[in-house]
Amino acid sequence: MSTPKRRLRSQDWFDNPDHLDMTALYLERFMNYGTTPEELRSGKPIIGIAQSGSDINPCNRHHIELAKRVRDGIRDAGGIPIEFPSHPLFENCKRPTAALDRNLAYLGLVELLYGYPFDGVVLTTGCDKTTPSALMAASTVDLPAIVLSGGPMLDGWHDGELVGSGTVIWRSRRKYAAGEISKEEFLERALDSAPSAGHCNTMGTASTMNAMAEALGMSLTGCAAIPAAYRERGQMAYRTGRRAVELVLDDIRPSHILTREAFLNAIRVNSAIGGSTNAQPHLMAMAKHAGVELLPEDWQVHGFDIPLLANVQPAGAYLGERFHRAGGVPAIMWELLQAGKLDGGCPTVTGKTMSENIEGREATDREVIKPYDEPMKERAGFLVLKGNLFDFAIMKTSVISEGFRNRYLQEPGREGVFEGRAIVFDGSEDYHHRINDPALDIDENCILVIRGAGPLGWPGSAEVVNMQPPDHLLKKGILSLPTIGDGRQSGTADSPSILNASPESAAGGGLAFIRTGDVIRIDLNKGLCDMLVSDAEIEKRKTEGLPPVPPDATPWQRLYRQTVTQLADGATIRGADEFKQISKTPPRH
Ligand code: FES
Ligand code: MG
Repeated sequence: MSTPKRRLRSQDWFDNPDHLDMTALYLERFMNYGTTPEELRSGKPIIGIAQSGSDINPCNRHHIELAKRVRDGIRDAGGIPIEFPSHPLFENCKRPTAALDRNLAYLGLVELLYGYPFDGVVLTTGCDKTTPSALMAASTVDLPAIVLSGGPMLDGWHDGELVGSGTVIWRSRRKYAAGEISKEEFLERALDSAPSAGHCNTMGTASTMNAMAEALGMSLTGCAAIPAAYRERGQMAYRTGRRAVELVLDDIRPSHILTREAFLNAIRVNSAIGGSTNAQPHLMAMAKHAGVELLPEDWQVHGFDIPLLANVQPAGAYLGERFHRAGGVPAIMWELLQAGKLDGGCPTVTGKTMSENIEGREATDREVIKPYDEPMKERAGFLVLKGNLFDFAIMKTSVISEGFRNRYLQEPGREGVFEGRAIVFDGSEDYHHRINDPALDIDENCILVIRGAGPLGWPGSAEVVNMQPPDHLLKKGILSLPTIGDGRQSGTADSPSILNASPESAAGGGLAFIRTGDVIRIDLNKGLCDMLVSDAEIEKRKTEGLPPVPPDATPWQRLYRQTVTQLADGATIRGADEFKQISKTPPRH
């Protein structure tokens, strides 16, 4: 084993001649499960394994098994593993939303990494927010860190048809509302989408964020897409453990890897994989804590022109297994590199540059990963919009269907421009109560608006903007209406919504002042979205105050609301980004 470049941080706990009393105290309790003082005083790097799996997070649960291979890797490379739980984040189950807990998990992990004797850390990730929260914390503490994704579930099948996580829900609820399937069939389709351990097998937020970690250079090459149940996943766990020790010895830290160029690479990869709209706030948050200036308009400037290359649901046809076998994230990055759309010089946790990592990683299945010049869709990134309803919102163009394009965006002479009558809902309860109310008289020329769904309003920000049309339109075959909201939508949704609107209604954004019946004009060419209401009328409405939001239900909800920024800026904890590179040893008590 080579020697560390500098005295290890953990030695200040376990091998500090100036403070024998404290050293004795720190050492003795680690003995009670069989660790020896020789190990802890050997000068070997102590590698934390931030365990995100538990019974309460089924998407990450197999990390409990994988951690055994991580430990083997750490030991074989001359380190000492210490596994500890991180705050669980289970997307599907946490109410009102797991988004509330991303910053809580971040805070918790910062305290653990800063306050305990770790020299480096393996971040186990999977379910949506486990990845950004872990990387946000690793940046703040700036300890050598490496991501181990848990990998997606195996592909789901139902009656000979691929059924993908989440996407099957949004598609089935339309079929159910249109009377095409029974309740039982709805449930079976959903259950069949989850055939094994792992996270969502679509290109939802989980697969997207793990792809982002790899694109940023924070995991080993090919890590993101290996299905949870494949043998390669365990092998990746072993190699990740080994590499964590080397990162400590070479003193390679997140701050060396997470540069602006790395984030721009990630934005481009997100477009090419048809990634989740949740990548926008999460990458903004990760950049903020990494001290990297990433601007809301970077999504348009650097991401919009990139074509869709991955034929994976919800934007395409296939699921995680086929994507992995076709070459996964390295094959996507290889295409971007050949097209001159990737900064190949970015350093990564492998110790090599990104272009060295992905050399020779051309796709092996062109049905699933398309060549750059024969893509699934041209210009498939996020469109950034603004106007008098908000200063910033995004639209995922890769999921705009042919039917939607023809109905709303192809009027001769006005391509990309449409106007509609607003139907305004105050939060998702209101939407569910009233969407089928005949008094609203919703037709195909309406635009559905939801507010009170942002970080302050919900609180946490809700995945509710992908509102489905009323049943009578679904029965006529109109499967989506234009939707606008200050909340988010699931990464597995295939709705062309305008979402993440900032500032949100509860922060006094323009959405607070629109009323049902107002006309909204959307001009996708100019990136504009406005209510056609006079300034004087808007000023008058402002005197009537903001729509009400529910009270704080827990202490953390109050603290969250007091500190959170808007989705455009990543919904981070205001001021937390001032704490940079705090890996130096905290004072003893
Ligand atoms: Fe956990 Fe999708 S719900 S990964
Ligand atoms: Mg989600």
